[in-house]
Amino acid sequence: MALIFLLQTFYYLAFGWPEKSLSKDIALITGGGNGLGRLLALRLCKMGTKVVIWDINKTGINKTVEMLNDLGGYCKGYVVDISKREEVYKAAEEVQRDVGDISVLINNAGVVSGFNLLDTPDHLIERSFNVNVMAHFWTTKAFLPKMIENENGHIVTIASMAGHVGINKLVDYSASKFAAVGFDEALRLELEVLGHNNIKTTCICPFFIQQTGMFDNVWARWVSTLNPNEVADRIITAIKRNEKLAIIPSFLRGLLILKWATPFRCTTAFLRCIVPDAAPHSRPEKSVLNATANATTITSKVDIMSTFKENLSPLTNASSLLMQRSSSLGERVL
Ligand SMILES: NC(=O)c1ccc[n+]([C@@H]2O[C@H](COP(=O)([O-])OP(=O)(O)OC[C@H]3O[C@@H](n4cnc5c(N)ncnc54)[C@H](O)[C@@H]3O)[C@@H](O)[C@H]2O)c1
Ligand SMILES: *[C@@H]1O[C@H](CO)[C@@H](O)[C@H](O)[C@H]1NC(C)=O
Ligand SMILES: *[C@@H]1O[C@H](CO)[C@@H](O)[C@H](O)[C@H]1NC(C)=O
Ligand SMILES: *[C@@H]1O[C@H](CO)[C@@H](O)[C@H](O)[C@H]1NC(C)=O
Ligand SMILES: *[C@@H]1O[C@H](CO)[C@@H](O)[C@H](O)[C@H]1NC(C)=O
Ligand SMILES: *[C@@H]1O[C@H](CO)[C@@H](O)[C@H](O)[C@H]1NC(C)=O
Repeated sequence: MALIFLLQTFYYLAFGWPEKSLSKDIALITGGGNGLGRLLALRLCKMGTKVVIWDINKTGINKTVEMLNDLGGYCKGYVVDISKREEVYKAAEEVQRDVGDISVLINNAGVVSGFNLLDTPDHLIERSFNVNVMAHFWTTKAFLPKMIENENGHIVTIASMAGHVGINKLVDYSASKFAAVGFDEALRLELEVLGHNNIKTTCICPFFIQQTGMFDNVWARWVSTLNPNEVADRIITAIKRNEKLAIIPSFLRGLLILKWATPFRCTTAFLRCIVPDAAPHSRPEKSVLNATANATTITSKVDIMSTFKENLSPLTNASSLLMQRSSSLGERVL
């Protein structure tokens, strides 16, 4: 059995992977009002997929909907706080009525706190779990039944490299992303056991991405932070090929093997080298300004993000930053 799959992989490597068309699908993207979610929405729209986006940011939703409509595509946005189970179920019924059966569910919305554990207020820890993993349960429970009925569906989990290795200052984030990785893996096996072979799942684990607003100016070395457009392209390819796990960049997959094969201190030493400080905006101010200048040139092409202008000062006093934060819109930290 294993041999057959290995042979199949070699065959695909040699002759190219088959890619499915998504032109007849209806996709739902959580967190589609910004960053990766918006870029995925744009790409799906260009392929003819009907797109539904959920976000808490009304302005962000409007912007995405406008961009997709300008392209001549179908896009409908809903204000949904996915950390609230009841809201998810209610909005799911609405989508079902207004648009139809969702066949591609992309659990993309995510939040990060970015403090040492003891500096992280309890409500931010809960928020990390509610958005980064609990929401996946609610959205999946809402849309999977129709996928099973229609014998067609794809559930995409946007996790993170931090779902495979723990990173300091990201204790809550890492833990929630590990959970998301586990959610995807267990769900895939369960669907297989239940014989729902037409429902695919894909887990996406990117390293830090530039300019989406989430990990702007994170201090990473050696492995360069990723271009959001390239990540979005890679995700679309992974979906079309029904890939199970996409680690971006892919060479990190090889390094993950080393995690289990070497003493743990090697892993921590390595991680400390590549990610000196994982808190968003943690880079020294000088390079932040330069990074911003660069970011503007890159983003102007698609004009995706504006959030990185919000706060350029390095993180020095967590509590004062927390007070500045507008607490309504998803309580975005920074
Ligand atoms: N940016 C990175 O470096 C990076 C790296 C690895 C993985 N990821 C993951 O990729 C995904 C997308 O990240 P991004 O960089 O585009 O982030 P982003 O902050 O740019 O976008 C996230 C979107 O989710 C929305 N959102 C937040 N809380 C919500 C809630 N409760 N209900 C509904 N919507 C909510 C936000 O309003 C925002 O529009 C996340 O899951 C993130 O963890 C990001
Ligand atoms: C979003 O768009 C709708 C209609 O297009 C408009 O009525 C509303 O004011 C917009 N909201 C924001 C926050 O831009
Ligand atoms: C909401 O989205 C808009 C447009 O993408 C962005 O400018 C704004 O900063 C976002 N607000 C929050 C609180 O994230
Ligand atoms: C940005 O980098 C350039 C050269 O790479 C340097 O001349 C300039 O002083 C830097 N800007 C800041 C604000 O540090
Ligand atoms: C980034 O900025 C540096 C210095 O300011 C410049 O040399 C480089 O060309 C810029 N890169 C991009 C992609 O704009
Ligand atoms: C952080 O800021 C708050 C409010 O501005 C202040 O009360 C507190 O003393 C500051 N803490 C540190 C360590 O600077």
